[in-house]
Amino acid sequence: MDHFNYRNGQLHAEDVPLAQVAERFGTPCYVYSRATLERHFHAFDQALGDHPHLICYAVKANSNLAVLNVLARLGAGFDIVSQGELERVIQAGGDPARVVFSGVAKQEGEMARALELDIKCFNVESRAELKRLNAVAGKLGKLAPVSLRVNPDVDARTHPYISTGLKDNKFGIAASEALDAYRQAASLEHLDVVGMDCHIGSQLTELSPFLDALDRLLLLIERLEAEGIKLDHLDLGGGLGVTYRDETPPAPADYAKALLERLADKRGAHKPLTLLFEPGRAIAANAGVLLTRVEFLKPGETRHFAIVDAAMNDLIRPALYQAWQAIIPVEQRSSQETQRYDVVGPVCETGDFLGKGRELAIAPGDLLAIRSAGAYGFVMASNYNSRPRAAEVMVDGGEAYLVRAREAFSLLWAGEALLPESAGASH
Ligand code: LLP
Repeated sequence: MDHFNYRNGQLHAEDVPLAQVAERFGTPCYVYSRATLERHFHAFDQALGDHPHLICYAVKANSNLAVLNVLARLGAGFDIVSQGELERVIQAGGDPARVVFSGVAKQEGEMARALELDIKCFNVESRAELKRLNAVAGKLGKLAPVSLRVNPDVDARTHPYISTGLKDNKFGIAASEALDAYRQAASLEHLDVVGMDCHIGSQLTELSPFLDALDRLLLLIERLEAEGIKLDHLDLGGGLGVTYRDETPPAPADYAKALLERLADKRGAHKPLTLLFEPGRAIAANAGVLLTRVEFLKPGETRHFAIVDAAMNDLIRPALYQAWQAIIPVEQRSSQETQRYDVVGPVCETGDFLGKGRELAIAPGDLLAIRSAGAYGFVMASNYNSRPRAAEVMVDGGEAYLVRAREAFSLLWAGEALLPESAGASH
């Protein structure tokens, strides 16, 4: 459930009419709902009840400082994949002791910064990375907490670009190699083996791949324990899907219940492992919309186009993954007949569409809301076609706050330079 609803034919974010947001901040504009973010975070947190746990929001889904800050205030942890994300978490008031660091190619400088801040854990994805981390920690006189990301080779049955737990994917350490890698980690002086993790993909709508992955990890944990390598936590990654159209993913409560039952079954009287989740999409996607205005309606011979002021540079998911996101009018018209439109942007690419074949009753100047845009929306935006990136607004009850200003034109070339007049004189 989210807090984007119609009241008297007017789409609202919580108590604020979206038409008012567009009036005040312009379009295209991302609008987030604080209450929805909080609701989704609590759903995960409460789902694990009194089992020791930490919900590490995946910063990549939406890294706006206001979003991170709202979650930090609830005691969230964070899953990061770069120093940039780490610096954002710190800027937003997040607690580094609740940060886990994922990613296949952490650089020495990134490791050093994370060690300096005493993050909770490094999710290590290869043997070469173990060695690098050991060396960096040694130089700093630190002990680096590590978890190995195991690739359990399960099919997440999702889009191939967002499936990560198969042998063919670049992520993690193969389950068959993991035991050896753990032995190596345990032997390295500046590493402290504390956990195991996996992340098998994104937008999963079934429980079984998660349970299969858990089974494979638990087998490994048993073998490690037999060798005297004991872990404190198990991190099952993110990946729980959301409803974009008619998908029916399990609710966080059902997801957590199934995992906890399997854990209880298989580990019985063992000391409970702290459970970590890294949800991104499930927290942020339906907590945001992209507001856009219809510029022109362009009837064609075979298709009709609604040309809007948002484009693939603002929201790339439809173009990149053929993702379907609902497009709804901000003001409902009762009288007008609908027409089938391809909703397209101003970018010079045929792939620049936000939705195809949508039944809409609209006129030029109308506002549309592209739903489920709170995750992997603004964070994947670019300046293609030299389009300034959109504004971001967060609604909290009856108030709307600008949480990122629309990019000014001058920022488009900030950091660029001309060659000096004298350049080329030697030719
Ligand atoms: N943890 C790790 C290590 C990840 O790689 C990811 C996402 C997550 C957590 C969060 O997964 P989530 O709960 O959001 O499914 N841009 C794509 C999604 C890419 C996901 C990459 N990894 C999209 O727009 O569908």
